[in-house]
Amino acid sequence: AKDPVRVLVTGAAGQIGYALVPMIARGVMLGLDQPVILHMLDIPPAAESLNGVKMELIDAAFPLLKGVVATTDAVEACTGVNIAVMVGGFPRKEGMERKDVMSKNVSIYKSQASALEKYAAANCKVLVVANPANTNALILKEFAPSIPEKNITCLTRLDHNRALGQIAERLNIQVSDVKNVIIWGNHSSTQYPDVNHATVKTPGGEKPARELVAADDWLKGEFITTVQQRGAAIIKARKLSSALSAASAACDHIRDWVLGTPEGTWVSMGVYSDGSYNVPAGLIYSFPVTCRNGEWTIVQGLPIDEFSRKKMDATAVELTEEKALAYSCLS
Ligand code: NAI
Repeated sequence: AKDPVRVLVTGAAGQIGYALVPMIARGVMLGLDQPVILHMLDIPPAAESLNGVKMELIDAAFPLLKGVVATTDAVEACTGVNIAVMVGGFPRKEGMERKDVMSKNVSIYKSQASALEKYAAANCKVLVVANPANTNALILKEFAPSIPEKNITCLTRLDHNRALGQIAERLNIQVSDVKNVIIWGNHSSTQYPDVNHATVKTPGGEKPARELVAADDWLKGEFITTVQQRGAAIIKARKLSSALSAASAACDHIRDWVLGTPEGTWVSMGVYSDGSYNVPAGLIYSFPVTCRNGEWTIVQGLPIDEFSRKKMDATAVELTEEKALAYSCLS
C-alpha cells in the first residue's frame, strides 16, 4: 500500500473548505488508491467550527483518510505537508479599500510562507485559492525562497472549467467533449478566456470550437463576460460565493499536476511567468500548461491574434499593479 500523503487545507472551516475536505478524503484529488492525512488550519474564532468539521470527517468513515490534524497553529498545520491548498484569507468587506484588503492578505501570506518554508516536506506543492489568488501566491513565493518557484501556483482552473461549461451549453454537447480552452492572466474580471485553440470531439473527428460555435460576436462578447463575471452571478444567485465548483476545481488542479494531463490536453494554471508569450516575467499569471511527472510546462508556440494580445496585456497590467500594491504593503 502507498504511504499517506499529507494535504494541508487552510481556511478549512470556511465554505470552500467544507466542500473540499470530503473530496480529498474520498480520493477525488489524489486518486482512489492514495491514502491521505488531512491537515486543517483556521484562525481561533473558527476553532470550534473547525473541530466540528473534524468530527464529521471521523463520522464519514472515509477508508482513505488515515488521520486528521485540526489546528489554529500554522506550524503544526504545515509540518510535513506534501501538498498545501491555501484557501484561508481575508475577504473584502463592503467599504474596505483595496489596499487594506491587500495589506491583510500580504501579512497572512508572508507568515504562512515562512511556516511552509520551514516545516513543509521537501518538494511541497502549493496551490493558492484565496483572493487575490495570483498576488497571494507571489507573496508566498517571495517569502518561501527555498520552495522551488515551480511548486507555487494559483487556481484559475475554476475559470477554465467555467469556459468549458459555457461552450458545452452553447453547443448542447457534453462538457467532456470540449478541451483546450485557455484562461490567461489574473483570477479576476480582467482574465481572458480564450477559445481560439479549443476543440470539440464530434462523430466526424475533432473540430475547432470556434468553427462549431460559428458566432464570433458571442465568442468575443457574451462568452468572455459570462466567464469573467460568473463568480458574481453565483453570489447573486446563492447569496454565497462559489464553493463546490471551487473545491472541485482545486482537486482537478492538483490531480492533473501530480498525475499528469491526458495526451493532447492542456489546462490553465496560475504559474510564475518566465516571459512566455511576452507576459512580464515575475508575475503569477495563468497560462495553458501540460503536466508530466509532477511538473507543469507552459504550452509554447500558440499563435496569438491582435484581439487576444490586447486582452492578455490588459490582465498583465492589472497584475503588475497588484504586485506593486502588495509590495507597498510590505514596507
Ligand atoms: P470563507 O470566508 O467561507 O472561508 C475562509 C476561511 O478562511 C474562514 O474559515 C476564515 O476563518 C479562514 N481564515 C481567515 N484568515 C485565515 C488565516 N490567516 N489562516 C487560516 N485561515 C484563515 O470563504 P470561502 O468562500 O471558503 O473562500 C475562500 C477564499 O477563496 C476567498 O478568498 C475567496 O475569494 C477565494 N475564492 C477563490 C476562487 C478561485 O477560483 N481562485 C473561487 C472562489 C473563491
